[in-house]
Amino acid sequence: DWTMSSFLEDAVAQIRREVGDGRVLCALSGGVDSSVAAALVHRAVGDRLTCVFVDHGLLRQGESEQVRETFARRFGMRLVHVEAQDRFLDRLAGVEDPEAKRRIIGTEFIRVFEEEAAKLGPIDFLVQGTIYPDVVESGTATGAVIKTHHNVGGLPEDIRFKLIEPLRWLFKDEVRVLGEELGLPEEIVWRQPFPGPGLAVRVLGEVTREKLECLRAADAVVDEEIRRAGLYRQVWQSFAVLPPIRSVGVMGDERTYGYTIVIRAVESVDAMTADWVRLPYEVLETMSRRLVNEVKGINRVVYDITSKPPGTIEWE
Ligand code: XMP
Repeated sequence: DWTMSSFLEDAVAQIRREVGDGRVLCALSGGVDSSVAAALVHRAVGDRLTCVFVDHGLLRQGESEQVRETFARRFGMRLVHVEAQDRFLDRLAGVEDPEAKRRIIGTEFIRVFEEEAAKLGPIDFLVQGTIYPDVVESGTATGAVIKTHHNVGGLPEDIRFKLIEPLRWLFKDEVRVLGEELGLPEEIVWRQPFPGPGLAVRVLGEVTREKLECLRAADAVVDEEIRRAGLYRQVWQSFAVLPPIRSVGVMGDERTYGYTIVIRAVESVDAMTADWVRLPYEVLETMSRRLVNEVKGINRVVYDITSKPPGTIEWE
């Protein structure tokens, strides 16, 4: 793609000019935007970039390994991989309210990130994967690729970075083309959106390690079957939800009293509105059979047929 390769060249040159001998930090989530932003800045400044990836224990199966594989091994980036699972899960213990869970995760994330940044010594720049729709939404569509002296929301005054937002003029589909141009793997470039608080907002109510494990296994089944059916790219988001409900079932000669998994799959353009996907019955059937057989503690599967509005995409 000629247009994107010239964008890439220009962006690399501009980032090099701006950064000079400075040091750059990036909070890598593994999502499309932060991944493409990190890969682009890495192309420009190499080892002057350090990425921090926080594993908060609320990620999907294989996600943490994939980030390590892609960025540390394949790209040879400096990657600080923070194992913070216990920290997050301990703070979430006993908390049921969705917004309280979000606040705890957000606050803890900033704390972990700050600590890691402090260990790295002086940092001059922070990369953010802000894309054009984010810019428009927040009403700050101004000027240059690199804005100076902006403090990142929540970070204390004494950590001052200049912000690098190399994707701020791009739409999502352009970010994906750029990601391909940079050699990022398909699994990252085409990844469905995933919320920052991760599986914590899909284990409804209190988040426990056992429930997380159950949901993670269920989510992997849903994901696999969506991909196998060739639907992954056309579906906006598809995932499993674990409500705090148990119901009676029967398996073999045994009465069971187990959890229900909700399958959620929506089509959307911008997540503001969404329609539930008319998944083929065969796909639902395979998911249902596999969920009950393969995921311990599950004895019932339901499909969410609510659109947004009045439902939201997530259940919390
Ligand atoms: P809802 O559930 O409001 O979600 O229809 C709309 C989109 O936003 C994502 N989402 C979040 N993303 N932090 C995030 O980074 C959050 O707390 C959060 N809550 C919802 C959701 O996955 C969907 O894409």
